[in-house]
Amino acid sequence: MAREVTPSDLVITPRDRRFGRGARTERWWNGGDPVATALYNALSATFPKGEAFFVESVRQFRDDAPPKLAAEIKAFTTQEVMHSREHVAFNKRAHEAGYDLKPLEDRVDWRLNFVRSKPPIASLAATMALEHFTAILAHELLRDPRHLGSCDPESAAMWRWHAIEEIEHKGVAYDTWLHATRNWPRFKRWSVKAKVMMLVTRNFVIDRTMGSLELLRQDGLTGPRVWARLFWFAFVRPGMFRKVFAAWASFFMPGFPPWNHDARALLADAERSLAAA
Ligand SMILES: [Fe+2]
Ligand SMILES: [Fe+2]
Repeated sequence: MAREVTPSDLVITPRDRRFGRGARTERWWNGGDPVATALYNALSATFPKGEAFFVESVRQFRDDAPPKLAAEIKAFTTQEVMHSREHVAFNKRAHEAGYDLKPLEDRVDWRLNFVRSKPPIASLAATMALEHFTAILAHELLRDPRHLGSCDPESAAMWRWHAIEEIEHKGVAYDTWLHATRNWPRFKRWSVKAKVMMLVTRNFVIDRTMGSLELLRQDGLTGPRVWARLFWFAFVRPGMFRKVFAAWASFFMPGFPPWNHDARALLADAERSLAAA
């Protein structure tokens, strides 16, 4: 293996937690705000299929992985499978609250089937880029409590639990990518990675925007004022997507590894709060 980026003393620990079973979630569970709810529901709609795809993509390269990476892939798989399970349950509650997530899930299927029609390294590259995306969103979610400030405690705990584990395993797909491309010239590795990230970002922004607008349409909310409110929420206040921009851009630095940004202090704090909750 060329090198590894996950710190050697980091143990990826799957936390088998269940949230909100038997509970009813308010339709606008995120602070009573349809826009905040739509964006998070649009994200949640992607997770069961998306994370199954991440697992499948990484596992295609585990056979000749060194033992440390193989163990990390195993822990990553366990974490993602549990995330999918909890988002299936969360999405079911959104469905019970009156939303039809099927158009959003169909869109995810369409994107993933396109990548699956390419060689396996394309799936790994897309996973590596999307895992960076999830990790930076997760970091911002934990860093600023306002993102989930006024939502019900059970939903907040589920999103924070997921965020903790996303940060914890943020280096695994990247390490797998470094391993799988260990014989590639440096520039080729960088240029493929950069192109894939640009593509993934474009698709992510388009699809999550369309998904959020579809859910708002199901609320009977349409038109330019609603688009402006969605833009404001995503990019201005609390502005999740604006705040992750620098971390997103760091991906393009030559030699970028996700653990350049050591998030273990943030993880420890979040874990304490989750245990208290
Ligand atoms: Fe996950
Ligand atoms: Fe992940």
